[in-house]
Amino acid sequence: MRILLVGAGGREHALAWKLRQSPLIDNLIIAPGNPGTAEEGQNMPITADDIPGLVRLARDQAVDMVVPGPELPLVLGLHDALATEGIPCFGPSAYCARLEGSKVFAKNMMRQADVPTADFRVFEEAFEAKDFVRSAPLPLVVKADGLAAGKGVVVAKTRKEAMAAVEDFMVRRIFGNAGERVVVEEALSGEEASLLAFCDGQSVIPLPSAQDHKPIGENDTGPNTGGMGAYSPAPVLPEPMIADVTSQTITPLIRLLARQGYPFKGVIYAGLMFTPKGPYVLEYNVRFGDPECQPLMMRLKSDLAEIMLACCRGELRKAPVEWSHQTSLCVVLSAPGYPGSYAKGMTVTGIDQAEALPGVKVFQSGTSLQNNGLVSAGGRVLSVTALGESLETARALAYQGADLIHFDGKYLRRDIGAKGLNRPTT
Ligand code: AMP
Ligand code: GLY
Repeated sequence: MRILLVGAGGREHALAWKLRQSPLIDNLIIAPGNPGTAEEGQNMPITADDIPGLVRLARDQAVDMVVPGPELPLVLGLHDALATEGIPCFGPSAYCARLEGSKVFAKNMMRQADVPTADFRVFEEAFEAKDFVRSAPLPLVVKADGLAAGKGVVVAKTRKEAMAAVEDFMVRRIFGNAGERVVVEEALSGEEASLLAFCDGQSVIPLPSAQDHKPIGENDTGPNTGGMGAYSPAPVLPEPMIADVTSQTITPLIRLLARQGYPFKGVIYAGLMFTPKGPYVLEYNVRFGDPECQPLMMRLKSDLAEIMLACCRGELRKAPVEWSHQTSLCVVLSAPGYPGSYAKGMTVTGIDQAEALPGVKVFQSGTSLQNNGLVSAGGRVLSVTALGESLETARALAYQGADLIHFDGKYLRRDIGAKGLNRPTT
């Protein structure tokens, strides 16, 4: 079988690594990929936003399934364009991808599906949003409607901050059209976790829980990033709770989409907050999380290609989906300055030494090859991922691996997994 995987980050390296282990696959193409994915298959220089280019590639290479890693191609309609060519896509239609592409759409769907989520209002005019912000109880959360590279959410403790967010999004348009509308919602508090589920349009099979670490600084301080580390399982969402939480936060949405005539095929990601009143959905993503995907792929025992094909065919119930009981933890190594502007082109060494440790795998995100040597080429450079018997052992191994890798100005958070360690496991 021939598969086209789309994307170029650590998530895609982890997916390529796992897909490569499938006996069903004899050809893996990655567009555009990175030096890590090049070790698992053949990279082709088509970018994730080039929908006609990707469709042409899929057709010319006669692929049996396309697996989009990031949300952008899905929001731009890759699934739908492939459907007209009869090519299966593990990832939802443009309609379903609006769950991630539009916060207004996502919130309205949550309300309609009766999924627990923060109370909210939608505004199309800046003056109306500001009027509301002037008298609403604090803290308040202001969200730009469209895609804003994870930066379109401001949790405002003061009215001044909330006003500034409305001004930035709606008037100054710092994220362009993404700020045409905003969602203003009540602030929730509690611990966060990520719950992902495979979907074939009808059936929903949850993955084990994971927890991301979004802010750049230790103890969750400083600006948000794409994610500085993740681990699975997350003790805040232990295995015995997963079925209930899935039926509260994901299944009603998938049912609603099916009733509307838009079956969701792919993987859905619910960003949850565990409040004193139970789990609330903060957001949906229509893809694997990065870096959550890295530890999840380390724990997946079954054949990923078989699961993905079953999702495309509406036969998920027939596919074995088994997970290792072990814990996996991933530490992201980033370039100095990230998530602001950062340097590139630093020589990266030590990956082989890190991977010589038992249970350690280094997934590449922002890397490129220069004169046959590996250099940094992005903000998040590598994700060092380890599998161990417990959270303690996985964590110790991942940091041992991370410490063997060098590039100028290497930055990492030292507290990945700390929240899980401070909580009793069940
Ligand atoms: P989102 O992109 O909607 O997941 O938001 C990014 C981050 O903002 C989340 O991971 C939370 O830390 C925070 N956040 C979003 N919505 C809320 C909310 N209603 N209350 C408190 N924090 C929130
Ligand atoms: N790790 C968060 C995300 O992928 O959106």
